[in-house]
Amino acid sequence: ENFQEYGHKLVTWYRQNRRDLPWRRTCDVYAIWVSETMLQQTRVETVIPYYLRFLSAFPGVADLAKASEEQVLKHWQGLGYYRRAKNLHLAAKQVCQEWGGDFPKTRDGWLQLAGVGDYTAGAVLSIAMGQPEPAIDGNVLRVMSRLLCIREPVRNTNVVRRIRKLLEYWLTNDVPSDVTQSIMELGAIVCTPRSPQCLLCPLAEGCRAKREGCAAELPVKVAK
Ligand code: ADE
Repeated sequence: ENFQEYGHKLVTWYRQNRRDLPWRRTCDVYAIWVSETMLQQTRVETVIPYYLRFLSAFPGVADLAKASEEQVLKHWQGLGYYRRAKNLHLAAKQVCQEWGGDFPKTRDGWLQLAGVGDYTAGAVLSIAMGQPEPAIDGNVLRVMSRLLCIREPVRNTNVVRRIRKLLEYWLTNDVPSDVTQSIMELGAIVCTPRSPQCLLCPLAEGCRAKREGCAAELPVKVAK
């Protein structure tokens, strides 16, 4: 079975079915970083108005860096996980003070910023900077563990490594932003946790879990 070719199918589907979301109308690194930070623990519909207000208040990284923490938290009020806001603020200061206002261009650079983990680094590098860097979160692990029918705990190192390899292949053979967002979109709309809509899935014919009838049982989260 050749899973390498499925990246193109997914991207084609995404281009025809993508939702029009505010952070998909920009290629501004700062705006996309803000959106990915908000989206990490919060649903899309909740994030939209916060994202729009936050960007009106702090349109660029320098505006965020020079704001007071109180102002920043005020614009985060209701979103929860306030560490995200404090780190975003700190990281904006880092970018302005240590990087001359320019965002890092490598994964290692991004990982030095407050609050930026592997997922955020990959998301910003692929979506905003066009780099073939995978962004792996729970949704991505769910989609990929179903496609490949991985019955081992999905957080196992060897499992994550296998998924990362396939993602890297897809990313180097297509537009990185579309690859990353196509998987997120499939996970949000079609390949959902409880009742996956396999009839609508562009990967259905190749999906091993669908064939074996176990899509809804995957991913396996902890060792049995
Ligand atoms: N969840 C995380 N990142 C996202 C994005 N760019 N679009 C939609 N949902 C997301």
